Amino acid sequence: MQQTLILLKPDAVQRRLVGEITGRFERKGLRLAGLKLVQAPRALAEQHYAVHKGKPFYDSLLAFLTSGPTVAMVWEGREAVAVCRTLMGLTDGAKAPPGTIRGDLALSVQNNLVHGSDSPENAALEVALWFPEGLVSVAGVDAQWVG
Ligand code: PPS
Repeated sequence: MQQTLILLKPDAVQRRLVGEITGRFERKGLRLAGLKLVQAPRALAEQHYAVHKGKPFYDSLLAFLTSGPTVAMVWEGREAVAVCRTLMGLTDGAKAPPGTIRGDLALSVQNNLVHGSDSPENAALEVALWFPEGLVSVAGVDAQWVG
């Protein structure tokens, strides 16, 4: 069963879109395996966005992720990484298709509401980074409903 890390970034919390966005992952049939509200310290944001260090938007991205509470979630299910990225839509909200989270709700490339792991390998690293305490075991819970 594949897992992926999803962040509802500070703009999602500030805009009161946590329920709206979480519901889309839930309605798809994915299973919630981790959930918490985090005020990300700078060190966590640096580790999370390490791959973007040196890019022109790096400092701004760190400032954004640490600007307020973030909801960190782990979703699991068949092809969870790709399924979540499809639900999210393209990075740039202005270009994301209608029907996707960003396409329906975002207009910005930075303040684009959600982050989703881009590969199963990175998902494992990101889940460990955001949930160092581990996850509650949900294996076997209503497995018949999850693809
Ligand atoms: S890249 O550069 O191709 O790796 O970009 P991408 O994978 O599409 O986006 C990675 C994250 O960086 C953010 N981003 C930006 N922030 C501010 N300004 C600009 N120009 C910009 N371009 C990309 C984008 O929101 C992505 O955040 P996450 O949280 O990973 O979705």
